[in-house]
Amino acid sequence: MDDFDLIVFGGDGDLAFRKIYPALYYRLLEKQINNRSRILAVSRREYESTAFMGRVEENLRNYIDEVNEKVLGELLGMITNASIDPGKGKQDETADKWFDQAEADRIRVFYLATPATAFGGICAYLDEKTYLTDHSRVVLEKPLGRDLKSSEEVNDQVAEYFSEDRIYRIDHYLGKETVQNLMVLRFANNIFERSWNAQEIDNIQITVAESLGVGSRGGFYDQYGALRDMVQNHLLQLLCLIAMEPPVLLDADEVRDEKLKVLKALRPYDKETIHTHTVRGQYTKGKTKGEEMPSYLEDIEKYDSSTETFVALKTYVDNWRWGGVPFYLRTGKRLPHRYSEIVINFKQVPHNLFPEKKDIQNNRLTIRLQPEERIELQQMVKIPGPGGYRYKPFSLELDYADHFEDRFPDAYERLLMDVVRGNQTLFMRRDEVKASWEWVETILNNWEKQKVPNVLYEAGSWGPGDRIMSEPDFWVKSRHILKVQKKMEGNAG
Ligand code: BG6
Repeated sequence: MDDFDLIVFGGDGDLAFRKIYPALYYRLLEKQINNRSRILAVSRREYESTAFMGRVEENLRNYIDEVNEKVLGELLGMITNASIDPGKGKQDETADKWFDQAEADRIRVFYLATPATAFGGICAYLDEKTYLTDHSRVVLEKPLGRDLKSSEEVNDQVAEYFSEDRIYRIDHYLGKETVQNLMVLRFANNIFERSWNAQEIDNIQITVAESLGVGSRGGFYDQYGALRDMVQNHLLQLLCLIAMEPPVLLDADEVRDEKLKVLKALRPYDKETIHTHTVRGQYTKGKTKGEEMPSYLEDIEKYDSSTETFVALKTYVDNWRWGGVPFYLRTGKRLPHRYSEIVINFKQVPHNLFPEKKDIQNNRLTIRLQPEERIELQQMVKIPGPGGYRYKPFSLELDYADHFEDRFPDAYERLLMDVVRGNQTLFMRRDEVKASWEWVETILNNWEKQKVPNVLYEAGSWGPGDRIMSEPDFWVKSRHILKVQKKMEGNAG
């Protein structure tokens, strides 16, 4: 990897400690980067250097298994902390010196891990200080605004200083190994791609379940909710990868052009479908693994919030390939287990040939994204023995852990390296963000206008089941998911 300078705004934040510094550690360990690269950890607050570096080290030790002391020492040597307050137009001497020593022809990455409201100000400040070089690029952390208008404003502000080919909008789901494998699964296997359409597929389900609540992010989360926090970005990106046409090349714009077409084909919600095709929920107090859990309102210490912590949606991609195939999206906090999964339910065989006419279950491809990464293909098999045709569903399973021993790099490792490499394939282009907000707003606006209430669900349960069950279509299509969940609960037990 070429040498680079990385400047992290929000360098004293949770994301930097939890994801960015550990990602750099692992890339250094793997010798993908070398210790000539420099990292500037920027914060508004002034920290005494030894104390700050002590915190970086402590966090690295926390997030890394089996620390390699030499590599850790090298990484700490690459990091400098400095204070910059763009709002006040102020920076300390360390920052002055660091930029004075910077080489103009080196790749320079500005990583903005701050609230999006600060992005414009930071870019303007960097421009004024003449820190933006021909080799500069900017990384934007989500959330980029909380609706179409605010996200367009942020994008406009950043666009004054960076052209689109230098802007890297992070959606960390795209950096996950198993998410990248979706491309290989679809486009390096003829059998799947041949049947990847409305003629063969009955429905597609994308679930991202989280067992944690909102933790210490309550103040932030309450302004957003599950739809903005998870669906607008992560779930829609997964849907795009599943539904898009094969791109002509694996090139950033070719891939993003195809994803954009999917987003544009999503069916908007109206005053009827907002009631029949969406569910929003909020957790009340309950139990997870026998432990008492507070309600969302207790978690955020605000008792009149109507922010949703669970969303289930039924949607359609209105195009030639997917006409009539429902896509079910679900995500929620404080569910019994953390797991993300995509299930492709193929259609039933057209005719049951067998004399006893026992149920023939449809083929089902399950892609477990995390944890226990796995691909399962359910098929019907004959039970050996005499006495006619007895059959039952059985799965071909590929468990990643059984076949790939290497550690899976964290999404941030891949994404950071792609920024340095200048590869934008796994980053969201501005028009994608816009299209996803346009669709999400048909939900937000209708929720508000039609006064769609939150259905309460107990922490530690699988979400607002009653509502889902009282709506027959939702229920029928969700049934197998519940079965899978029951099976998992059994396994967990
Ligand atoms: C983030 C959301 O983008 O993704 C969080 O803001 C969520 O609320 C997280 O918990 C989930 O990511 P992962 O990688 O743990 O599935």
